[in-house]
Amino acid sequence: MKKPEPLDVDAILDDPGTRIIVCCGAGGVGKTTTAAALGLRAAERGRRAVVLTVDPARRLAQSMGLTELDNTPRLIVRHDDGGELFAMMLDMKRTFDEIIEAHADPERARQILSNPFYQSLSSSFAGTQEYMAMEKLGQLRRSDEWDLIVVDTPPSRSALDFLDAPERLGRFLDGRFIRLLTAPAKAGGRSAFRLLNAGFGLMAGALTKLLGAQVIKDLQTFVSALDAVFGGFRQRAELTYKLLQAPGTAFLVVAAPERDAMREASYFVERLAEERMPLAGLVVNRVHLTPASALSAARSAAAAEELESRGEHELTAAVLRLHAGRMQLAARQSREQEHFVTAHPTVPVVQVRAMSDDVHDLAGLRQIGELLASA
Ligand SMILES: Nc1ncnc2c1ncn2[C@@H]1O[C@H](COP(=O)(O)OP(=O)(O)OP(=O)(O)O)[C@@H](O)[C@H]1O
Ligand SMILES: [Mg+2]
Repeated sequence: MKKPEPLDVDAILDDPGTRIIVCCGAGGVGKTTTAAALGLRAAERGRRAVVLTVDPARRLAQSMGLTELDNTPRLIVRHDDGGELFAMMLDMKRTFDEIIEAHADPERARQILSNPFYQSLSSSFAGTQEYMAMEKLGQLRRSDEWDLIVVDTPPSRSALDFLDAPERLGRFLDGRFIRLLTAPAKAGGRSAFRLLNAGFGLMAGALTKLLGAQVIKDLQTFVSALDAVFGGFRQRAELTYKLLQAPGTAFLVVAAPERDAMREASYFVERLAEERMPLAGLVVNRVHLTPASALSAARSAAAAEELESRGEHELTAAVLRLHAGRMQLAARQSREQEHFVTAHPTVPVVQVRAMSDDVHDLAGLRQIGELLASA
């Protein structure tokens, strides 16, 4: 395999200029594990680090003492030399509520929070989780309490979802949702919200029949209340976006050595370049490594076949088959990585081997951290 640049994880963790690391990638590849392992390693190297996780596997969350969603960082490990690891699990609904509380006066906030439309909106539409992760990142960074914030990204259909989330939320709030409620012909130019309020009189008759008077009233209250805080959403989304482009941010794309995940990693690398967001490198996780000197798949399979045809040494034949299978898997994984390296020869890469068990405690995270730093 063509040799990629080695990714120097410790250099990134130790650089005081690194303030944010974002772990992104396709679903299930090891984003949360990587983020937690990096946070732990940073803490053990003397930094005050916080890991913002989204949906950690239950056993991992428990091992880190993250048993409830309380939306504030909890101390996990404190070192004698000053390093600390904090972690928090994102509570999407709570984060949304906090934004409303921070940006609307108390009466307005109360109106929005208790509105049935808010309650379904805040947890249901696509992209909320991604958006809230970015929002929380902005909050943590502004607090300036941390040397290093390691961000895990949500299990999305696509690794790109979280980059699109702020934009999507904005579009949703001033676009589709509103058009759905107003006469389509009137949507041009003016504030959609004001238009909606004005439009209510006209359409109230028809809609009231359809939805009932209380629903219309709720909807109207919700939309006019949201109008008051809406400006802030866009603005903060833009700030967070700039934060992601800043030199203190390092994106790590995590992938499994499989076709779909590697392809998605490729897209992500290209997208980050387009958005001028700083890519630190690629983590290929759960790699099956084989020693270069090992018996080849072909010879191993041939030997197994020979033994089987003679009806001898059944167990030896089975072991040879198993070995051939592993060698084939390793070869396939290495081909998938080769495609990536050929397409992106300058992207630094580190491989993390597949553990025999899942990663569910600090010892396991420490081991992943060592592998991450071993390129
Ligand atoms: N190198 C590894 N060896 C063995 N198991 C691993 C390794 N890395 C991660 N795992 C396990 O794989 C599972 C998925 O990992 P993780 O939760 O970190 O993925 P994720 O990308 O965050 O997934 P999601 O997209 O669902 O959030 C977990 O059970 C984890 O313990
Ligand atoms: Mg995860």
